[in-house]
Amino acid sequence: MAEVVEIPRAQTRHAAIAMLALRPRWQSAEALVEFIDTNLRPAGYRLAGVFDNDPEAAVSVIGFREAWSTAWGHHLYVDDMSTIPDARGRGHAEALMRWVVVEAQRLNCEAIHLDSGVGADRAAAHRLYMRNHFDITAHHFTRLLD
Ligand SMILES: CC(C)(COP(=O)(O)OP(=O)(O)OC[C@H]1O[C@@H](n2cnc3c(N)ncnc32)[C@H](O)[C@@H]1OP(=O)(O)O)[C@@H](O)C(=O)NCCC(=O)NCCS
Repeated sequence: MAEVVEIPRAQTRHAAIAMLALRPRWQSAEALVEFIDTNLRPAGYRLAGVFDNDPEAAVSVIGFREAWSTAWGHHLYVDDMSTIPDARGRGHAEALMRWVVVEAQRLNCEAIHLDSGVGADRAAAHRLYMRNHFDITAHHFTRLLD
């Protein structure tokens, strides 16, 4: 199984290409890195990745944070999981999922939580989560504001 490494703040850009495959709204690596480092990292967001040939561009990444809530207690929340299209189907996301489970256990979390869209473009992700013993436990509601 591929080696997973944590991507520190100074190397957030190493996660950008893989992350943009999932989050195209940021349009550029620069905008995405600035958002992560300015808004997410200070709130505890972390990144881990799998690298192939390029040591400065992960082919698969996971973004997550340790969190606490009245509903879920102490948990690890996975915000992002993405593999670049050319590197899919090689077990990279599986390696990241196993790594994050170990990290959640190390932090003594009660559970891992995540949201995933319901469209057909998330079918591969849903298979990954079910394979890794995630249950579907909630509906997620969103109200867009003017
Ligand atoms: C979901 C996603 C992260 C999975 O990444 P991945 O690195 O391709 O995942 P894996 O390689 O671990 O598993 C993918 C498939 O390859 C298979 N696979 C894993 N290693 C393999 C190998 N060595 N040989 C053949 N197949 C393999 C897995 O069984 C799995 O099969 P399935 O799709 O039939 O269930 C990726 O498809 C993706 O980025 N999708 C778009 C973004 C997205 O939806 N993110 C989740 C948001 S909630």
